[in-house]
Amino acid sequence: MADKKEIVLSGIRSTGNLHLGNYYGALSKFVRMQDDYDCNFFIADLHALTTNPDPRELHANVKNILAEYLAAGIDPEKSTIFIQSDVPEIAEMYLLLNMHVGIGELMRTASFKDKARKALGIGVPAQGDDDEAFEKEIIGAATNKRVNAGLLTYPTLMAVDILIQKAHKVPVGKDQEQHLELTRRFARRFNSFYGVELFPEPANFDFGGKPVKVPGLDGSGKMGKSEGNCLYLIDDEKTLRKKVMRAVTDEGPKEPNSPVSQPVQNLFDLMELTSAPDVVQHFKDAYADCSIRYGDLKKQLAEDILKVTLPIRERILDIRNDDAYIGRVLRRGAEEAREPASRFPQALWNCWWRFPFLSRFGGSILQIPPPPSLREPHGYTCPRPYGSSPLLFFPPYRGF
Ligand code: TYM
Repeated sequence: MADKKEIVLSGIRSTGNLHLGNYYGALSKFVRMQDDYDCNFFIADLHALTTNPDPRELHANVKNILAEYLAAGIDPEKSTIFIQSDVPEIAEMYLLLNMHVGIGELMRTASFKDKARKALGIGVPAQGDDDEAFEKEIIGAATNKRVNAGLLTYPTLMAVDILIQKAHKVPVGKDQEQHLELTRRFARRFNSFYGVELFPEPANFDFGGKPVKVPGLDGSGKMGKSEGNCLYLIDDEKTLRKKVMRAVTDEGPKEPNSPVSQPVQNLFDLMELTSAPDVVQHFKDAYADCSIRYGDLKKQLAEDILKVTLPIRERILDIRNDDAYIGRVLRRGAEEAREPASRFPQALWNCWWRFPFLSRFGGSILQIPPPPSLREPHGYTCPRPYGSSPLLFFPPYRGF
């Protein structure tokens, strides 16, 4: 019998079109892993809700990301492709796992602090974190702005996505490593609390290299949708060239072998991802001997990026128009993803009810009956109709 393949799971939030950060940090790895692993790739629409997107955009965003997955080369014959909210067991397990997670550890997560600051409209403090003042702001003591609780429990939901599929490998960009570390911690905590070996500890995956952080074009940190510094897979030729030509640089090196400034380093980093090694070396040498012309570097960079993105863009436009195909892929993916996921609430419930205290606590003091899906092994034989999650009630959330 052939060896069982390791399970891979990863996802991307449906908050807009995919950019080069998503592509090099995640999507391109998804495509390369398909032949060697049991791959599951999903669209994280529940995570997208944590930043309160416009309900009218939800449907279009899910559809766009799916078209982008397929156009980039994820093959539904090789991988399971699904929407997070099509697996209702994820929401059930999210509730249960949250009982084992501390608010303190969630509040210390870098991405929470970052997103909470954005939601409150406050900048990063100059000298490290002033946690006390920040916590007051989050609670709303000083303003009437709100940070939603879903943002806080984002890592729990992400851990559930991974654990419910028993994933071994989770290909993600560098910015997600802290979430993965939390996932491992939650898995260990859960296993040891109940004395079970339910969850493997998942690891990032990068074909032997380091997880990447794709920089933005504005000279600052990473490329990100909320930073407004993205090159999108769907950008047309003119738009993309224009964005690259406007990328922030500096005045140029004045002496041989000068240190490279952050904005210029960002362009070299992008080049390392998209251009041939001799091309990168050529521009690095030109920088070192002060003969570099940033205009030439940008032209070359745009050319090399377009070689990657334009064929994908063409396929995205075709696939987006094929609702029947999109619908088929999603229905099949929902069934495949629910098959392992549907075993988990029961397995968790079994752990829970093995403990007399918890059983008394859950069963008689609070008089809470377990939800139907936890009372009986259920799932695949009686799946909830595809796309009917009550969580996503915006009509019509799905049209395919
Ligand atoms: P999202 O949508 O923020 O990012 C999706 C993927 O793109 C990677 N990424 C980047 N990589 C390198 N450089 C960048 N500038 C860059 N920007 C984005 C992210 O690292 C990520 O891999 N929380 C996840 C979605 C998620 C998930 C999961 C992932 C939800 N549940 C379970 C894996 C497993 C996220 O960051 O989405």
